[in-house]
Amino acid sequence: MTVLPGKLSDYAGKEMSGDFAPLVLIPTTAGTGSEATKFFVYTDTATDAKLLMKGDALLPKLAVIDWTYTISSPVSITVATGMDALTHAVEAYTSKKSNPVTDIYCLDAIKQIFKYLPLAAKDGNDKTAREQMALAAYEAGVCINNSSVTLVHGMSRPIGALFHVPHGISNAMLITECLRFALDGEGAEERFAKIAEEIGEAEKTDSPSCASKKFLGALERLTKTLEVPSLREYGIDLEKFAVSEEKMASDALASGSPANTRKAVIKEDIIAIYDRLRLA
Ligand SMILES: [Fe+2]
Repeated sequence: MTVLPGKLSDYAGKEMSGDFAPLVLIPTTAGTGSEATKFFVYTDTATDAKLLMKGDALLPKLAVIDWTYTISSPVSITVATGMDALTHAVEAYTSKKSNPVTDIYCLDAIKQIFKYLPLAAKDGNDKTAREQMALAAYEAGVCINNSSVTLVHGMSRPIGALFHVPHGISNAMLITECLRFALDGEGAEERFAKIAEEIGEAEKTDSPSCASKKFLGALERLTKTLEVPSLREYGIDLEKFAVSEEKMASDALASGSPANTRKAVIKEDIIAIYDRLRLA
């Protein structure tokens, strides 16, 4: 903002450009993938909304991806950021904007995260797990930069903005229910089935319907292993949540992310998913 007029929120939804200082990004978590994207997110405290900012000028000139910087990340941050990276890869792979190049990165990232995130969470000093997670988070960043996120991120940002849940945890709370909803979208089942096969959860001979459900089962097990809390367990005021669902659904749709889902999403669908999370 040193080179731009106005305030940051004036640029929400617009392409940010300007004569910015060269940007060098060094991730210290295996998560957001910011080192590979033209996006950043911030909470506008004036409106309690999490805003997604974008612009090619926000892509770093240089990214230094060194897993040794992630070693000291505590288990809570490791889980939250790792689940963010997984959500990026799964959403980009099943987005309407998926493409054959990001598909390769997505599948690799998903496979590595399923294998190594539980290990990194269990033992933060596991060098192989940390290294593979750093690579996977980068790959997943490349994927969202080119193929976008979908319903999960759309619905996750409002929870973060209003209830201050870490981004990766609100993704993790939402991901299974959102994908269950998206399953009958155009070509979605085949894509989820492919993920199931890739992570060793389904056989090639399984029908897409069967394999895609196996993927959802694997996701549920992963979030259990990583002790992802429910809204209730996190201590969220469920009454406040209930009255906020309308605003959160509007904010989710306004972000544009839900429209990348392979199934048409309307406000009532989003509210129904928020309801399911609240009543779980
Ligand atoms: Fe994210």
